[in-house]
Amino acid sequence: MVKIKLLFLGVLLHLALLVSANEGMWIPTLLKKYNIEEMQQMGFRLTADDIYSINHNSLKDAVVLFGGGCTGELVSAEGLLLTNHHCGYRQIQSHSSVEHDYLTDGFWAKSREEELTNPGLTVRFLDRMEDVTEKVMEGTDSLTGEDMEKKITRNIYEIKKEAKVDERYAADVKPIFKGNQYFLYVYKVYRDVRLVGAPPSAIGKFGGDTDNWMWPRHTGDFSIFRVYADKNNEPADYSPDNVPYTPKKFFPISMKGVQPEDFVMIFGFPGSTDEYLPSFAVELLMQQSDPDKIKIRTTKLDILRGQMEADPKVRIQYASKYASTSNSWKRWQGEIRGLKRMDALGIKNEFEGEFKNWYGQSEELSAKYESLLPDFERLYVELTPFDRAKNYYDEVVKRGTDIFQLAQNTPRNVSAWNKSDAETQQKVKDEILKRIEAHFKDYDQATDEHVFTALLRMYKADLDPSFLPKEFSELLSKYDDEKLLKKVYRKSILTDKAKFTDLVRNLDEKAIERLQKDPIVALYDQLAGYYQANVERPYSQINDEIDKLQKTYMAGIMAMKEGQALYPDANLTLRVAYGKVEGYKPRDGVEYNYFTTVKGIMEKDNPDIYDYDVPQRLRDLYAAKDFGRYAEDRQMHVAFTASIHTTGGNSGSPAINANGELIGINFDRCWEGTMSDIMFDPDQCRNIMVDIRYVLFIIDKFAGAGYLLDEMQLVPAEQAVETNTDSI
Ligand code: ARG
Ligand code: ASP
Repeated sequence: MVKIKLLFLGVLLHLALLVSANEGMWIPTLLKKYNIEEMQQMGFRLTADDIYSINHNSLKDAVVLFGGGCTGELVSAEGLLLTNHHCGYRQIQSHSSVEHDYLTDGFWAKSREEELTNPGLTVRFLDRMEDVTEKVMEGTDSLTGEDMEKKITRNIYEIKKEAKVDERYAADVKPIFKGNQYFLYVYKVYRDVRLVGAPPSAIGKFGGDTDNWMWPRHTGDFSIFRVYADKNNEPADYSPDNVPYTPKKFFPISMKGVQPEDFVMIFGFPGSTDEYLPSFAVELLMQQSDPDKIKIRTTKLDILRGQMEADPKVRIQYASKYASTSNSWKRWQGEIRGLKRMDALGIKNEFEGEFKNWYGQSEELSAKYESLLPDFERLYVELTPFDRAKNYYDEVVKRGTDIFQLAQNTPRNVSAWNKSDAETQQKVKDEILKRIEAHFKDYDQATDEHVFTALLRMYKADLDPSFLPKEFSELLSKYDDEKLLKKVYRKSILTDKAKFTDLVRNLDEKAIERLQKDPIVALYDQLAGYYQANVERPYSQINDEIDKLQKTYMAGIMAMKEGQALYPDANLTLRVAYGKVEGYKPRDGVEYNYFTTVKGIMEKDNPDIYDYDVPQRLRDLYAAKDFGRYAEDRQMHVAFTASIHTTGGNSGSPAINANGELIGINFDRCWEGTMSDIMFDPDQCRNIMVDIRYVLFIIDKFAGAGYLLDEMQLVPAEQAVETNTDSI
């Protein structure tokens, strides 16, 4: 009896040591040490080795980094891949025109020949990962400052060189725990990835920006691609001779659905989180950085929306730009709200108090950590004005207007041009010509002119004059908007595709001199030059200091939490997150269910509202209750939530059940939980997944592309035990 009690206590202690339930994005090679026991207690039936192994095929072989910032998973022996609609959005858009509007109508390749190629799109399979901290730090013991950094850079270079077997692979060494450890990642990179299918936006983006970051949600956020390889199943550039890639592993698909409390695992590439910031950083983020960026983007989005509503061509041209601008804009608002609501500053302060108590126990620790928090505080005060100037520069000059983005990539350095050989010069030309093409495909001058004047006005009005070049301030005082456009914007050759293309084709010293003097290029250079000298330099000096402190702080936290499981911030490397299916209580008196159904789509249906305009075909299927084998209790489930710690980059990640089968595709988080990048609240943070059965239903019943299911491996639901008599 005593023994049993002790054992039980042991389990309790073990669990208590872990971070708050369900928080964390864990390193696949360390699951055995930190997580697998808990995962199995929660219902998981596989082993850590089944998830990640270099000796045999494991789940990791079916998960890819899709493009530069999403996740995808293999679902057939013939290279079929699922990701989100919003992850394939740029590709779907790039194949779209007013005549072939795949955004509006969807796209389904009827045969392999019809699958569409996407130059530049790659998928990365993780071949192996390894802790290389010792190798990175080799020979640095006696070094400090810049010498140490140089040695580290050198070591990393060597490790990568050694690891990169040949050009099929890419190797990356990334710091984790704020540079207290390093991991090597070796990827196999496939670069012929074709678009196979996408539902219309009215399904794949149903609810649009209105429902984005929200629950209850009804978005069929998926698209289908296929990975191609050469005849030996190896990576190759696009060629009509390439064949579908045979993956080492692909996910079987469960038809069973989920129940509350069911174990779910999300396996993917979370991009970036900051869970170990000091209170001062969180305060700056809540009080200045997020609000600044929200303010500028509000202005930009209002303009884009007006222009898009007025012209269907502009709607397509700016669809992707609008979606990506609005996405973070909305998340920042949720983030501030969530941080306030959970009293993130109070929690940080309390933690810092604990930290002080911890190091206060010993003189040695005090000597190491005592100055840390006051130093942080001083540096964040110093950073504040520069942070504002940076927010404005980033949002206005760097990515505010289309024309400045083109200006950034325009050559204007005569001596660099003269020094380069003919081959390099040709490369430069080709590069810009490509950019010009891409720019003008999605450019509407009237729209961009609006954005240009409005954002530049804000730049002048909201920044301290010391952060602005004098000539710029004078220019904006002297000219009204119309004049600004007439004298600057419309005088630029960057507004004229034919002329600009011609100039670049015949690029020479004289042409470059002409570009230097172009009014838009000159204005951009004036703003950029001033920013570099007066903001960027001091900003990065302070920031470097902060990074050093953050590394020490992280080392302190790790020492304080010695023996407990800690997870490093996300850094776009493969991670495992897990939790259980559950809804949540967003506010007093309200409780959200864990799943939604097509019934909810019909409730939102409104042909007058773009985001809620349900396709007639879906209405018909619903009216006939024609859900085929995809329904559960005669209801067609659409999406579900779980309490799992995810972030940007996790979109497209497989949602995996206790048996290792695919049950959904992750695509979002709920509004009340968007602060999870800074602080996770197990009560409020939920990830959102599209139910895999809805994906199959749309492919099969809605789009008539059921032939795609033939290559998937569907695991039938066991006979339903209970029958639900609820009406549909
Ligand atoms: N919020 C999701 C994520 O961060 C989906 C965004 C795409 N959808 C949109 N309406 N902008 O990526
Ligand atoms: N929607 C995000 C993505 O694209 C996921 C998230 O932030 O929860 O990765």
